[in-house]
Amino acid sequence: MDVNISIRRTQHSRLSEIDFSSLQFGKHFSDHMFLADYKDGKWGDFRIVPFDYIPMHPSIMALHYGQSIFEGMKATKSQDGSPLFFRPEMHALRLNRSAERMCMPTFPEDVFLEAIHALVGLDGGWIPPQEGSALYIRPLMYASDEFLGVKPSENYSFLIFTCPVGPYYTKRINLWAEPHYIRAAPGGVGAAKTAGNYAAAMLPSKLAQEKGYDQVLWLDAIHHNYVQEVGTMNIFFVIENKVITPPISEDTILHGITRDSVLTILREETDYQVEERPLRMDEVVEAYRKGELKECFGSGTAAVIADVVRITFGEVDMNLPDRAEDSLGRFVKNYLNQLRAGLRPDKFGWIVPVRMPQLDPSIS
Ligand code: COI
Repeated sequence: MDVNISIRRTQHSRLSEIDFSSLQFGKHFSDHMFLADYKDGKWGDFRIVPFDYIPMHPSIMALHYGQSIFEGMKATKSQDGSPLFFRPEMHALRLNRSAERMCMPTFPEDVFLEAIHALVGLDGGWIPPQEGSALYIRPLMYASDEFLGVKPSENYSFLIFTCPVGPYYTKRINLWAEPHYIRAAPGGVGAAKTAGNYAAAMLPSKLAQEKGYDQVLWLDAIHHNYVQEVGTMNIFFVIENKVITPPISEDTILHGITRDSVLTILREETDYQVEERPLRMDEVVEAYRKGELKECFGSGTAAVIADVVRITFGEVDMNLPDRAEDSLGRFVKNYLNQLRAGLRPDKFGWIVPVRMPQLDPSIS
């Protein structure tokens, strides 16, 4: 692979200021970032520079019309301290799926992969060592035309920066099955990782939090009954010996990479019957009433696996027992964390060792 990325290293690393034992998610940023520009119909000027503010014109189109997409992925450390990625090529593909839906240019997959290797190779010291912690990697693409008026931008910026993070959720979570507001509708952009999906979720999430819930469980736009996903995660229900999750689609559910990994682990490593199919809340409530709803958990890059303690749907309040070490969610979470720490054979070929950059000492 011959991708030319220039590297300007920081003269003042902030690494010694970081306390890996108390990391708040999304608050700490490593020393470098990757940048690229889209001009005249092609991507170029690939560079790694010290992490810093990005200057922008007040009219740039991303700010006004929302052409902005992102990814979230992680690098972890194996037992011997070497850095590892988890399914990085899937993130490159998903970024481009989001780009196509938002009428933005795709980003070359080989440059994406080369950029994360170079960046994380350079900032590998920022990967926290504790289980469940990681270096969270945030690729971001946004429209950068300086222009007012609704049309696809002609210029774009792409960047990747990284944050050392601890677990996203530190406790079992409460879900509010939202009866009125929706996240995604047929024909819409629900499967794209685009900024507006998260913005639109904020008011309903705030209202749910005021009622004492951690997250909204999104339901379909027509019946307000079919399960879609949780704001930050895909969702799984364990009913008797079945694990059920809604199917991904072109428009309403994010194509979760952790979701896909969970499905593979469940199918290959457990005796559970795994079903990707439409699931109505009515069916969940009925299972709860019969004592058949064993557990519910969410999956996401940031969250990994988050165990659900309570779901409220209309008048029905469902409280789920803490199955702790016996739970399927815990099994899958441990499985993923062990893979990411290199403690389990990588039978699915998901782990990619980070290539350390061969830095020319003459490069500043
Ligand atoms: C992720 O899981 O990577 C996300 O982008 C969710 C975000 C809330 C951190």
